Amino acid sequence: MSPFLLTRTLPEDATDAVLRADVLHGLTRTPKALPPKWFYDARGSELFEEITRLPEYYPTRAEREILLARSSEIAAATGARTLVELGSGSSDKTRHLLDELPELHTYVPVDVSESALTGAAEALLAERPSLNVHALIADFTRGLVLPATPGPRLIAFLGGTIGNLLPEERAAFLRSVRSLMDPGDALLLGTDLVKDEKVLVRAYDDAAGVTAAFNKNVLSVIARELDADVDPDDFEHVARWDRGQEWIEMRLRARHALTVKIPELDLVVPFEAGEEMRTEVSAKFRQAGVRTELASAELELTHWWTDTEGRFALSVATAR
Ligand code: SAH
Ligand code: TRP
Repeated sequence: MSPFLLTRTLPEDATDAVLRADVLHGLTRTPKALPPKWFYDARGSELFEEITRLPEYYPTRAEREILLARSSEIAAATGARTLVELGSGSSDKTRHLLDELPELHTYVPVDVSESALTGAAEALLAERPSLNVHALIADFTRGLVLPATPGPRLIAFLGGTIGNLLPEERAAFLRSVRSLMDPGDALLLGTDLVKDEKVLVRAYDDAAGVTAAFNKNVLSVIARELDADVDPDDFEHVARWDRGQEWIEMRLRARHALTVKIPELDLVVPFEAGEEMRTEVSAKFRQAGVRTELASAELELTHWWTDTEGRFALSVATAR
């Protein structure tokens, strides 16, 4: 198998400092909240892959359907020689795109999860030995710097992960992506769409309890990394549709009154029985909103495709 380049732009101790700051801030504010990127340690990445195979979790299948139908149009519209993918995870759906980009020189998967990145790069290279893979361990919300590779570049952000950013974070993120783009580069964006509340809630509260385990895994990460005294089983998974914000909100609810202790941070945090802490949002979109948010970042929506059931959308945008 051919080797791949792996660049770490997140020093391990910096990650640790950010985790400490995030946990300190999140557990001392009212209402309590934890930031989502800490879901994805090796176990979290595995649990997410399991989520993508659940009968209730339609976004992965819907986005795959669009990629299968539209990859050749995406290739023709962009002529990409470099494919950058933000939050690439297992890169599984990306295969359909890689197969259709005739000019492709280098694939640059970007993720905070080192285990997901190396697993994906190894699997891709086993099948496609001539592909150049330059994997980046990086946080896509913090001053991303891309390697020098041939243009035009296509920057893919799939899975509806943009919905996991809050509106202000989304605006800052889109501006930062825009600033990475040269004339001729394009953004390929996957967005889950507003739909029936029952379908949405089921996708984030599955019968087998995999999403519950994924949500609670953030507590295992804190217990391990910060030596915190917290038992994930003291919390239960909650997924709610917020009609006003049009997002699914994931929370952890204390089953009874309890205290979380993190001596390293000098922190003793009381939870009342039934107290809920937000762990993640997953915003759902409409075409007009996506177009407007892109335009605010000087990006112009040029293509919009949905799956046949109209559940999920892929769009292409170019720098204006
Ligand atoms: N694109 C894949 C995976 C989506 S899950 C798919 O569509 O199935 C979200 C992915 O984004 C995970 O692999 C997670 O590790 C990564 N991620 C989440 N927040 C991140 C951040 N701030 N910077 C980089 N990667 C991030
Ligand atoms: N990007 C995925 C989504 O919003 C992430 C995700 C799926 C997720 N299920 C989750 C995040 C459950 C937190 C909890 O659909």
